[in-house]
Amino acid sequence: MQTLTYMIYLLAAVLFILGLKKLSSPKTARRGNQLSMLGMFLAVVITLFDKQILDFSHIILGMVIGAAIGAISARKVEMTAMPQMVAIFNGFGGGASALVAFSEYEVLRLQGPTELNVLLTVVLSVLIGSVTFTGSLIAFSKLQGIMRGAPIVYGMQKAVNFLLLALSLGVGVGMAFNPTLGATLLLAIVILSAVLGVLLVIPIGGADMPVVIALLNSYSGLAAASTGFVLHNNMLIISGALVGASGLILTNIMCKAMNRSLGNVLFAGVGTDDGGGVTHEASEEKQVTDYTSEDAAMILESAQSVIIVPGYGLAVAQAQHILQEMAMLMEERGAKVRYAIHPVAGRMPGHMNVLLAEANVSYDLLSEMDEINDDFQSTDVALVIGANDVINPAARYKKDSPLYGMPILNVDKARSVMIVKRSLGVGFAGEANELFYDPKTMMVFGDAKKVVTELVHTLKG
Ligand code: TAP
Repeated sequence: MQTLTYMIYLLAAVLFILGLKKLSSPKTARRGNQLSMLGMFLAVVITLFDKQILDFSHIILGMVIGAAIGAISARKVEMTAMPQMVAIFNGFGGGASALVAFSEYEVLRLQGPTELNVLLTVVLSVLIGSVTFTGSLIAFSKLQGIMRGAPIVYGMQKAVNFLLLALSLGVGVGMAFNPTLGATLLLAIVILSAVLGVLLVIPIGGADMPVVIALLNSYSGLAAASTGFVLHNNMLIISGALVGASGLILTNIMCKAMNRSLGNVLFAGVGTDDGGGVTHEASEEKQVTDYTSEDAAMILESAQSVIIVPGYGLAVAQAQHILQEMAMLMEERGAKVRYAIHPVAGRMPGHMNVLLAEANVSYDLLSEMDEINDDFQSTDVALVIGANDVINPAARYKKDSPLYGMPILNVDKARSVMIVKRSLGVGFAGEANELFYDPKTMMVFGDAKKVVTELVHTLKG
């Protein structure tokens, strides 16, 4: 049985790695998910038969309840609410690791003195798991609007966090010397690290939550890997390490794409409540070219090449389906239509890819920033739908801008630029966008769904 278990664990580990590899492209992501799911299913089944930890009625009950919650959430939750769903599921993962390590410690304690290395992994599991649990709850609450998204900052914040971490580890050391007080001290670690989880996330602005969620995801993997050491379970160690590493890689990709360090995201208190910005009225000396949707439709009718740049506003307006209809209409008229995807457009990794996939936009029409950036100069119209920061030229030259250094889509190089948004308001970074005042820019003000629907009507007519 032991050999069979190891063989299945090995197979599951291979399936996880293949699954992760396939997740790196939207074309193969679905298959990647299926492979990873198969790996997890095999790992769970063989573990249950191997260990027989509880009687099966408990396990089946737990699986049915868990699967029902997962299935209902996956079907019901809106695409724009996906980040908070990931946050809460991460949190449960961390919480589960902490609970398992806690109960295993109790079992081991009754059997005799706990070895130092086991004690260390128990403390780490409980600490990281509890931080992940409460940190994820705060991330969820900020994104769900249960609490304000604005950063909560106060003096000595970092010092307080450091003190809590040091105290938790100190209590862990105390456990080694006071085995009789073990469970009470472990409970103290749970409380201290739960408070730490809250304090670590409250100073981070609501719009930076996707980065935090990726980081907490990584923590939940570390907690699981630690619990794997406690239980001497290789599968848990491997899967935890994979989650930990991939979460960290994703965090790094997001920070790089925003040209911000992780320290800046975690401690600088950047961002407003929801990432939306204050409205800037056009100043007297700056002129905006304001187009109606009818005028805009005429320009699009005569364009031979169009690059659509989707942004956060597309997700807010849920205009992806009507946008796809408009792109098809333009293609039928002989125009070449493509989509340019910035790596941090929207509010979560792959936000625009998921949105456009929902509207059945072919993957072949989507181009990453690096692939398409040189093509803007030979394009008739760059059509921007609800994007702002990812096209803001201030990122190239304005040294005091939060966007400075972030690579942007070269929309301003196109022959003409059409921007659909509701106002001259700023985006997540709060930086005014001079492109709105460029003589070759046509601003079409309004909700993206409403404007694109009007464009479709005119193009059809
Ligand atoms: P933003 O710069 O945030 O701009 C979005 C624009 O959409 C706003 O200026 C807003 O202007 C417009 N908008 C909102 N609702 C709209 C509606 N119903 N119809 C039409 N327009 C609407 O978005 P972006 O260009 O996608 O850039 C993303 C930003 O988020 C970057 O700064 C990025 O660093 C940050 N961020 C991204 C991520 C990930 S992983 N994607 C994670 C954290 C932070 P109006 O109010 O005038 O309509």
